Amino acid sequence: MTASVSTAIPHDFPSSFVWGVATSAFQIEGAAAEDGKGPSNWDRFCERPGAIADHSNGNTACDHYYRWEPDLDLVASLGVDAYRFSVSWPRVRPGGQGAWNAKGLDFYERLVDGLLQRGVQPYLTLHHWDLPLELQDAGGWANRDTVFRFVEYAQGMHSRLGDRVASITTHNEPWVMATLGHETGLFAPGIRDRATAMQAAHHLLLSHGLAVQALRADGCRCDLGIVLNLSPVQAASSAAADIAQAQHDDGRLLRWYMDPLFEARYPDDICAFLGPDMPRVEADDLLQIAQPLDFLGINYYSRSVASASGQWQAAHSGLALTDMGWEIYPQGLTELLLRLHRDYRVPPLFVTENGGAFKDALHGDRVHDAERTAYIAAHIAAVGEALREGVPMAGYMVWSLLDNFEWASGYEKRFGIVHVDYATQQRTLKDSALWYRDFLKTQRAAADAGVRGG
Ligand code: FCB
Repeated sequence: MTASVSTAIPHDFPSSFVWGVATSAFQIEGAAAEDGKGPSNWDRFCERPGAIADHSNGNTACDHYYRWEPDLDLVASLGVDAYRFSVSWPRVRPGGQGAWNAKGLDFYERLVDGLLQRGVQPYLTLHHWDLPLELQDAGGWANRDTVFRFVEYAQGMHSRLGDRVASITTHNEPWVMATLGHETGLFAPGIRDRATAMQAAHHLLLSHGLAVQALRADGCRCDLGIVLNLSPVQAASSAAADIAQAQHDDGRLLRWYMDPLFEARYPDDICAFLGPDMPRVEADDLLQIAQPLDFLGINYYSRSVASASGQWQAAHSGLALTDMGWEIYPQGLTELLLRLHRDYRVPPLFVTENGGAFKDALHGDRVHDAERTAYIAAHIAAVGEALREGVPMAGYMVWSLLDNFEWASGYEKRFGIVHVDYATQQRTLKDSALWYRDFLKTQRAAADAGVRGG
């Protein structure tokens, strides 16, 4: 039975608005040890017993390293303006320093040229979590030296591709790398130590600021920015303790990143809370971090709810959940965008990731994923609402083009608008992809009519 869903989107988007789809290297490429690619922190983490729900790894993933051409044809067939992808640092510079890998660099040359030939703008992310293992073994992001290796890597990629990509993102979701990677240990490198996590967060931010300056000094003409995972944090109840918890969680998730990036300071309440776990911040670091940006990317999936007891559960909230167990809460995206616009001097904003995992079933050559279509449509409408309220929204990208390796969940969770049969690597456009394609056609027609009509 197909659920009836509302996919009507009442808002007009400007013709300059960028529509896209997103992926990341480790989640789709495979070819984990081929053509000179070095191992990464994630390759190592996948070997840890119990780390990945289905005991899988990224060795083959969607085999995109070999199937990039038909995959780019799929991207183009959707009619998107932009494709957001990431470069695997260990593929292009296997040890994180020293020799570059010509075959790895050639792969991204072909990918970028292939996008341009198809009329799709390349949106490049430098670091979507896969760090060369040698750097990890030397302390990874907790080691200040990694900051300078990252700047070299950014400059190397910019010198190869900066003339053709539309946009370069330094990091994808530093909170996830710092907190899930170094404090809860759920993600690579699997460390459980708050002080290490906060030091890693600081170094990620510092490397962002230094890379932005280095690329500008190198004459960068493409847009530069960073991508954060953000949510509005709501108190589970009106009890003072829950409200205080929400303020604290907001500090750790949002203000810890937004304040240094846009105001050159760390939030006082969180610094006080951290005490001895406060990272070492050298003189001028904060000024180096707070560089003017061409855009800020926001990855939004759900709201966050804070309870002092830690007892609150999404499953009991009464809202529909995705297959990740995340509440479907599109109004939270509008709320978040309005807040960022109100509290910070933000550059143009992109939703660089948004989408849902659902239990999909392939029926012949169709996947009737009405819930995903409804999810995407509702969140696009939420972006339209923010635009109407004056937030400088510049684009929206669906996570994800393909079903792929969903980190600690392995291949069990499917976020793609294109279904992947991992046994055959067959791709099938889900109904949500067909809907997105038709929606973009309508948008374009409306924008063209608007232009003609003056
Ligand atoms: C984000 C990640 C992305 C994907 C989605 C579901 O945190 O950036 O790679 O895993 O979540």
